[in-house]
Amino acid sequence: MSQHQTSHSDKDRVVIFDTTLRDGEQSAGASMTFEEKLAVADLLDEMGVDIIEAGFPIASNGDFEAVSAIASRVKNAVVCGLARAGSKDIDRAGEAIRSAKRGRIHTFISTSPVHMKYKLQKEPHQVLEAVTASVTRARGFTDDVEWSAEDATRTETEFLLRCVEAAIKAGATTINIPDTVGYTTPDEYSALIRMLIETVPNSDQAVFSTHCHDDLGMSVANSLAGVRAGARQIECTINGLGERAGNAALEEVVMAIRTRNDVMPYWTGIKTPMLMHASKLVSTVSGFPVQYNKAIVGKNAFAHESGIHQDGMLKHVETYEIMRPEDVGVKETNLVMGKHSGRHAFREKMKDLGYDLGQNAFEDAFNRFKDLADRKKQIYDEDIEALVEDGITSAAKGAKVIALTVIAGTGGPQKAIITMDVEGQHITKEATGTGPVDATFKAIKAVVPHDATLALYQVQAVTEGTDAQAEVSVRLSDGGRMATGRGADVDTLVSSAKAYVAAMNKLMTHRQKTAPDVDAPEPVKSSERV
Ligand code: KIV
Ligand code: ZN
Repeated sequence: MSQHQTSHSDKDRVVIFDTTLRDGEQSAGASMTFEEKLAVADLLDEMGVDIIEAGFPIASNGDFEAVSAIASRVKNAVVCGLARAGSKDIDRAGEAIRSAKRGRIHTFISTSPVHMKYKLQKEPHQVLEAVTASVTRARGFTDDVEWSAEDATRTETEFLLRCVEAAIKAGATTINIPDTVGYTTPDEYSALIRMLIETVPNSDQAVFSTHCHDDLGMSVANSLAGVRAGARQIECTINGLGERAGNAALEEVVMAIRTRNDVMPYWTGIKTPMLMHASKLVSTVSGFPVQYNKAIVGKNAFAHESGIHQDGMLKHVETYEIMRPEDVGVKETNLVMGKHSGRHAFREKMKDLGYDLGQNAFEDAFNRFKDLADRKKQIYDEDIEALVEDGITSAAKGAKVIALTVIAGTGGPQKAIITMDVEGQHITKEATGTGPVDATFKAIKAVVPHDATLALYQVQAVTEGTDAQAEVSVRLSDGGRMATGRGADVDTLVSSAKAYVAAMNKLMTHRQKTAPDVDAPEPVKSSERV
């Protein structure tokens, strides 16, 4: 069986810095609503994440409000806000984290020749000055300041050394070395981290941190190589969500450390049985499905299909299993409840699945469960998870689907009649289309006129059987901005309508992103990625 952590000395403790709500949410189409961000932050906090990077407060009022709200409610984790080197960014981040029990400002500036020349249009000496000024200003708000050298892995060594030294001298307590473009390799990255720790004066006054992107599929290996070289913070995201190919996946780095503790004798504070739940929640709110063969949390990660494997497993589980499914929160799919199950049983089931809902959310989930049980004979854990997560998505502000009737079949033309709640008013419209989905989306557009176009439509069955709930993802694109919504229902067209409306609501909410001219030419627009 897998190796588990045995030693728990402080020097081997790896701090988990989750940036799902910042770097993850920045990835094209993954925007989350305010309510969804709070739900993710609550879960990360409960799961034992050490630092939650809650957003980029200067980017928009929505980001600022989300970071402030998360700062006020998080019980254990440090809450962090991102800021570029400009004073307006830093002041906004400082304001956003003000109510946190423990707040961090994470400030960054590019240090590679290509970024300095083309993106910042600054000379190296100006960047160096900005490092000192930004960290000093951030320290005026909090003692916990992280500094990042954006594109560190393509930065000239001498210059990186000087920047890191300046950041520590100005009071940075964490030094992050991002592989912004996912370019490095494990050997190269560990040599870089080791060299910095060994060379920079006073390097022991800061925690060194990894931040690896997955463009070449090496983000987890690179992060772990960084830890072996002395880094003690890993920046990562649930499901590896993030810019382009994503960031290092939290569940993978945590389970690699735990499972191969013989060669990586470190430990984290993550409650690993919550990993699956976190993966599902992030997949739902971001609208990004988890690939079936994804390590740790993919649907097939613990499935043994071939005869040889099944035979081995039946004889002894360790023949093919290096981790126990329950250690990452994978449970046997079991028939759970039906229409006669009451509140008490439902509450127990919620607990069992890792949900801790407030009274209103619980009542809402219970009513949805009863409604589902009337329509579907066998209710599985997956059904309940889809139902609760659909509730989180539809609790967000914006238009809502009230009723939908669709006329479909070989006769054509297909027609949809939809009633929606728009700012408290019920509006009914109808439309015809090429197929029932097209008709439904056109009817929604008739209720809420908009210019967004459909970029992705995907249907997945939650369980097996013809009465299974359909989980639909819809991605909409509007002038370069993208948003994804998800909906679940036993009726595929109702799920489709819910998913479309969820994506549309997100686009509308994020429409007013501001573009402050703080560090021109480095504007923050929703389309700009850091
Ligand atoms: O990838 C990157 O360089 C970043 C920084 C802002 C840390 O996300
Ligand atoms: Zn990043």
